[in-house]
Amino acid sequence: MSTPALLEVEGLSCRFGGLLALNNVSLAVRQGEIFGLIGPNGAGKTTLFNAISALTPASAGRVLWRGQPIQASRPDQLSRLGLARTFQNLRLFDSLSVRDNVLVGLHRWAASPLVDALLGSPRERQRQRQLSQRAGELLALVGLADEADLPAAGLPYGERRRLELARALATEPQLLLLDEPAAGMNPAEKNDLCDLIRTIRARFDLTVMIIEHHVPLMMRLCDRLAVLNFGERIALGTPEIVRHDPAVIEAYLGSSR
Ligand SMILES: Nc1ncnc2c1ncn2[C@@H]1O[C@H](COP(=O)(O)OP(=O)(O)OP(=O)(O)O)[C@@H](O)[C@H]1O
Ligand SMILES: [Mg+2]
Repeated sequence: MSTPALLEVEGLSCRFGGLLALNNVSLAVRQGEIFGLIGPNGAGKTTLFNAISALTPASAGRVLWRGQPIQASRPDQLSRLGLARTFQNLRLFDSLSVRDNVLVGLHRWAASPLVDALLGSPRERQRQRQLSQRAGELLALVGLADEADLPAAGLPYGERRRLELARALATEPQLLLLDEPAAGMNPAEKNDLCDLIRTIRARFDLTVMIIEHHVPLMMRLCDRLAVLNFGERIALGTPEIVRHDPAVIEAYLGSSR
């Protein structure tokens, strides 16, 4: 219980006109855990990710990274701190190859002196080879090694999701926010994704925050979960605690979704 929090959300509210999409939400994500966020459609899950990753301004509250407020940071500053995410609506570069989509994520490590880049110096060529090799390793990890040279547009949906994951990993994050990474996957693919998330957590010493509607999967995967409903955090705890929480059963698990 003494594991320090990597990320804390304190009294966070987000308002869109008359709609309070997040209402005074607090939670803390501990270093190394897989922290789940569940709740019905429109509960505010993506809005919470957007507020954490500085894409949506909060109307009240704070976000702390290792105890330091970050809610005024720019997305690129958060990336340098070690925060990466995937999107519910995929954001891939369709006309680029699968490998080049990962290289976009690696770009952060690719900054070369201009003269090296212009002259195509041996040092620059070596750097490009290293980056390409690193992209290949990440693609192998997510099971896309054979697709590296195909255009991203040609990938089936489940593989596009895994490509987004590889690209997010390329930034070498400490905290990875995954917004419905299993959407559109069949049950076998969902299971594989669970294994993959555990593998990457162990290999990269990651902390993971994940949004997913498939409740049984979340109960198996997550160390702890928070449940949102109409913008409010209605439960927080281990899968065992959340599963038996009457407010959750009423608001979410008992619903017909
Ligand atoms: N940019 C925006 N402008 C206005 N309203 C928004 C905006 N983004 C989200 N909302 C509203 O805020 C509420 C929460 O949306 P959000 O996308 O966070 O829900 P969610 O829990 O991620 O739902 P889902 O499971 O369907 O992805 C919804 O009512 C949504 O319509
Ligand atoms: Mg969402």
